[in-house]
Amino acid sequence: MSEIIEPFRIKVVEPIRRTTPEERTEILKRAHYNTFLIDADDVLIDLLTDSGTSAMSAAQWGGIMIGDESYAGSRSFKRFESTIQEIFGFKHVIPTHQGRAAEKILMSIVGGAGKVIPNNNHFDTTRANVEFSGAEARDLVIAEGRDPASMHPFKGNIDLEALEATLKQGTSPIGMITITNNTGGGQPVSMANIRAVSALYRKYGVPFIIDSCRFAENAYFIKEREEGYADKTPREIAKEIFSYADGATMSLKKDGFGNIGGFLALNDDAMAEQARNLLILTEGFPTYGGLAGRDLEALAIGLNEVLDESYLEYRLATIRYLASRLAESDVNIVQPPGGHAVYVDARSFYDHLPQSEFPAQALVCDLYLEGGIRGVEIGSGMFGRCVDGVEVPADRELVRLAMPRRVYTQAHVNYIGEVFARLAAKRHEARGLKIVKQAPILRHFTAWFEPV
Ligand code: F0G
Repeated sequence: MSEIIEPFRIKVVEPIRRTTPEERTEILKRAHYNTFLIDADDVLIDLLTDSGTSAMSAAQWGGIMIGDESYAGSRSFKRFESTIQEIFGFKHVIPTHQGRAAEKILMSIVGGAGKVIPNNNHFDTTRANVEFSGAEARDLVIAEGRDPASMHPFKGNIDLEALEATLKQGTSPIGMITITNNTGGGQPVSMANIRAVSALYRKYGVPFIIDSCRFAENAYFIKEREEGYADKTPREIAKEIFSYADGATMSLKKDGFGNIGGFLALNDDAMAEQARNLLILTEGFPTYGGLAGRDLEALAIGLNEVLDESYLEYRLATIRYLASRLAESDVNIVQPPGGHAVYVDARSFYDHLPQSEFPAQALVCDLYLEGGIRGVEIGSGMFGRCVDGVEVPADRELVRLAMPRRVYTQAHVNYIGEVFARLAAKRHEARGLKIVKQAPILRHFTAWFEPV
């Protein structure tokens, strides 16, 4: 750990603003105790998401200047396409403005009532796009993947028996796997599991599509944890992963080092033609999708940078380091730490608060009040429901601390650790919250809370 340092130096900086505790008390009250409603300028360290929040490199910014903005046949698209073909190995590359646009196009082609799409865990937008098409999104992660204490090295793996039982029904038009498994804690999938899942999909004639947002982080976990991969490069590992699949959806806002961007990649000619026709309806012409030429240029550069071994070593070390700082204050987290985030167990941190008082949302608010840090609640605010005025809680109360890529330094992480230590010292004083206003769907984005 001590030899792993940030494998970059900083050329451009962006000031962050400290606020006083009195100011934060006011700001939080004005935001109705919902940190989604706080202005980003009022946040000191923003761990809301690792999506679209990366720092681009000097080379990427250079690429922005030489982006080709031609409507058709742009040089930057050619570079984008050939980079993805080289790493991912798929024939057709369809650019989209972000990951969910690729999901929407894919589900418009293969979804529909009576169909079942298997996955380890569908991410929220993937699930929403599957369900919007009328199909069922079925989560088949291994039992260890649902157990926060399990130290299984690949908690994102799919349960192969459950997958075969689903495929036997003959209702799956495609099958998926998400690497890393964000919903399950940013946990990786092993190469052995990807190979076995692929064999099952092939056996039942089901095209295999990988949700590949954090593919480079997953590749490095394989290098660190799976026998036979220690001497392979992340690029070789990534190539092997995708060699088992028929296509991919990708949010380039994660492991593309982009602030915006995505793609759908496919081998099948007929399916790709359908996808391009849908692309033109909402995203744009097939040589730019929903992106500017300069974005395509920067993303092609980012995809090569993200596979750099010293970057990935540093990236996974930063998450482990954050986890180790929290462990000093006996904070329970989903173990082992994932590739892009640490997931704090708020139910055990605030064990005096019942779930009806939103312990994870309370912790999100207290993190902001104590240190100006913004995390995100993954608990009853997000997944609970209000049925006839009665709250039905979620099965977990987590706070996700997602680390933007190449943005914060070790001193920032030390500060996060200090804030948790201060909160831990007075954890039994924490007060719960109640919801006073909510929308019928995706309520966590806009709900108003009040202290109990
Ligand atoms: N799949 C996974 C696994 C994701 O984590 C995300 C986004 C998407 C698909 C959708 O991509 O945002 O580009 O449309 N996750 C972000 C997050 C929003 O905060 O975890 P998108």
